[in-house]
Amino acid sequence: MPLDRLAFQGLRNLEPFDLRPGPRINLVSGPNGSGKTSLLEGIHILGMGRSFRTRHLRHAICHDADALVVHGRLSGNPAIPFGVRRHREVSELEMRIAGERINRITALVDLLPLQLINPDAFRLLEGAPSARREFLDWGVFHVKHDFLDAWQRARRALKHRNALLRHGRMQDASMSVWEHELVHWSERIDTLRRDWMAAFLPVFEETLGGLLPLQGLELRYSRGWDSRRELADILRQGRETDRQMGFTQQGPQRADLRIRLARRPAVEVLSRGQQKLVVSALKLAQGRLLEATTGRTCVYLIDDLPAELDGHHRRVFCDWLERMHCQVFITSVDHDVLTDLWRSDTPMEMFHVKHSEKGAGRLLPLDRQTS
Ligand SMILES: Nc1ncnc2c1ncn2[C@@H]1O[C@H](COP(=O)(O)OP(=O)(O)O)[C@@H](O)[C@H]1O
Ligand SMILES: [Mg+2]
Repeated sequence: MPLDRLAFQGLRNLEPFDLRPGPRINLVSGPNGSGKTSLLEGIHILGMGRSFRTRHLRHAICHDADALVVHGRLSGNPAIPFGVRRHREVSELEMRIAGERINRITALVDLLPLQLINPDAFRLLEGAPSARREFLDWGVFHVKHDFLDAWQRARRALKHRNALLRHGRMQDASMSVWEHELVHWSERIDTLRRDWMAAFLPVFEETLGGLLPLQGLELRYSRGWDSRRELADILRQGRETDRQMGFTQQGPQRADLRIRLARRPAVEVLSRGQQKLVVSALKLAQGRLLEATTGRTCVYLIDDLPAELDGHHRRVFCDWLERMHCQVFITSVDHDVLTDLWRSDTPMEMFHVKHSEKGAGRLLPLDRQTS
């Protein structure tokens, strides 16, 4: 379901606004520093409870404000209002869905499936496995209903095992209990991830094929523990070395997606532009699989689309977005670059952010920009 209302206060340089985005393509233009990325950041906070620009949400609060409040509404009957508030002095987030206070960010994630494509997106390929694991688990979480429960149980068992390792009391009995629990849920997680991968691969290959025909690009899931051994044996036999390290070295918490080309890591072979296309294909494929398996659609946040993509690739990319039923927020400095990319019958809303007299960003529908 698309967002049909966005109302933000106290976010970066943006003046408070109350906006009616369109259900499909929303184009946002404006000069550098006007607040385009901040708008996407606000939607990201709304759906993920965190920013993609800073680990400290406090930094996203406007210098002059005590709190940031991001409020959205999902269209539907009934429509679902929801929001996140972060006060400068209170590190805990206040989250609400349909008036009810919620404690878990996963409730927001479940409500608003988001995909972000920004100029940092290529980092998915070159950065730490945790980013790729997050990508993988986003897909599994939205498609496989018992994943969250399995993941929470495995994480709890892992925490207990790590605590026993660190506090040096190698009580075999409790160690065995937690290892048994960890093995059970790790195997469940592995099965769910594997099933998801089997469904994801063909969708990814088809999406990539349209964007960037690359012979021999390989996307492989690695489960996080030795493929020839049982996790139970690895844990039991590895207690001493794990104790020296102070943590559990193998398990689903170490899973990764390996992206290779010609038997080498793809980042070593591909240009930045090609990396961006591979990552775009991964993220488009996530949304396509979500639509195909659950009928739900993602909201895409696309910051500075033109960067690094030539005209042909921009068009193919937008073509995929048009074929999906998703809602898109897409930014660019240059308004014309954005408008030329779509078919004339594509439902589209345009917004512009301009600097107000005080340097704040004022976000308005494009036709009201002069008022
Ligand atoms: N906490 C804050 N309070 C007020 N202004 C901020 C804050 N953090 C950043 N800014 C300003 O917000 C502006 C918006 O930045 P950004 O959203 O990145 O613009 P754009 O994407 O349009 O180039 C920048 O000029 C920046 O200096
Ligand atoms: Mg920006």
